[in-house]
Amino acid sequence: MHKEHINNKRLNELLDELKIKKPEIYEHSLKVAELCNQIGNQLELKPVDLRELTISGFFHDIGKLVIEDEFHPIYGGKILEVCGVSGTIRKAVYQHHELLDGTGYPEGISGEDIVKNSRIINVAEIFANANYEIFNFRENSPSAKAIELLKNNPERFDSTIVEALEDVYNYKKESDNFINTYLFF
Ligand SMILES: [Fe+2]
Ligand SMILES: [Fe+2]
Repeated sequence: MHKEHINNKRLNELLDELKIKKPEIYEHSLKVAELCNQIGNQLELKPVDLRELTISGFFHDIGKLVIEDEFHPIYGGKILEVCGVSGTIRKAVYQHHELLDGTGYPEGISGEDIVKNSRIINVAEIFANANYEIFNFRENSPSAKAIELLKNNPERFDSTIVEALEDVYNYKKESDNFINTYLFF
């Protein structure tokens, strides 16, 4: 990402606006950005790519400021264009509801035509929506079910990315068990 191409002030204002007008979408965006960052880390992305991915996660639903239906990725792309955001980030936002098998939106493109960052946001989104904040590691917990759903639909979700998410999840599960073992003996 070329920092000089980003009007940071305007982007910060946009996030503030989201926080005030649609707090639940703001919270969701932070969660998705965090997950994108963890997945990207697991995939060993270069720092510059990881930063771009994380920013894409923060702004993926910014179009919902305008409209909350299936057209929000289009508006998201446009808003970021006005702010002078790089094409890579805009594309990731625009394509974040596309699915590998072509059943997503807004264009219904498939496979490799969907940029990697969009495929990562898509996977992060499913997990984020499954009560991620509770981080419940029991069998059949919302988090465990989300992982199962992602694994059971490889025609829609990128398996390499799902595996990376599962690694992040298992790592958190292990550290959670470790903490519980030592704090609640
Ligand atoms: Fe989202
Ligand atoms: Fe979205």
